[in-house]
Amino acid sequence: MISIKNPIQLAKMRSAGHLLYDVLMAAREVIRPGITTMDINAFVEEHIRKGGGIPTELGYCGYPASICASIDDEVVHGIPSKDVALKEGSIISIDVTLALDGWQADSCFTAPVGRISAEKQKLIQVTEECFWRGARQAVNGNRIGDISYAVQSFAEANGYGVVKDLTGHGIGKDMHEDPAVPNFGAPGHGPRIRPGMTFCVEPMIAMGTWKVHQLSDGWTMVTNDHAPAAHYEHTLAITPKGLPELLTLPGFNWKEQEE
Ligand code: MF3
Ligand code: CO
Ligand code: CO
Repeated sequence: MISIKNPIQLAKMRSAGHLLYDVLMAAREVIRPGITTMDINAFVEEHIRKGGGIPTELGYCGYPASICASIDDEVVHGIPSKDVALKEGSIISIDVTLALDGWQADSCFTAPVGRISAEKQKLIQVTEECFWRGARQAVNGNRIGDISYAVQSFAEANGYGVVKDLTGHGIGKDMHEDPAVPNFGAPGHGPRIRPGMTFCVEPMIAMGTWKVHQLSDGWTMVTNDHAPAAHYEHTLAITPKGLPELLTLPGFNWKEQEE
């Protein structure tokens, strides 16, 4: 069942989203060669708690940390470790979900560690553009499949693989709610997008094959060909006007984006 949020609930989700934005902006600043993924986890968790939030990935289905930190061929759900120090030339995806006053926000970015290859830079840029093309379809009256199609077609036009094992999702009091928001599919299909819907658009894009497998830790998803992958995610709300508000990107304005 897709839950429709009222304006009071949307305001609470906005507060959660804005806290998560602050947290992820701060996390970007600490990414550098030598820092461990466990250090980043500790930094993020402290920032969330200082802001009055709860790191909801911690303990989710037994997940042991407050962030997912996925490096290079790791697509998602990389578990932070004190034994993993970032290396110059890598890319790292930091995916964080938090709750504030009982309402969730979920966002992810992929960032370079020091200097990276032009190929990896392009992968990050195309993954972000996949998000924007999808998010632009998130308007009253469209279907979820319009988002899916926009993401998939841009990724594949660039020769990349769309990871199909995981999807975006509704979000609210729970981290994962209906509907699923796949990164692949046909336009004109799926649930109709309506004001009050809140969901995450999160392309997971691989430079090579889209096929992935899970490591023996029970979480980390890795590309089968070990080519790098990128991930970019925001939590969106469909406003009373029928337009997508980016809850995890405060101050964002669609007009400026078109220019
Ligand atoms: N943030 C993830 C998502 O985008 C979910 C994290 S899985 C967890 O849906 F186990 F780390 F919580
Ligand atoms: Co996420
Ligand atoms: Co998500």
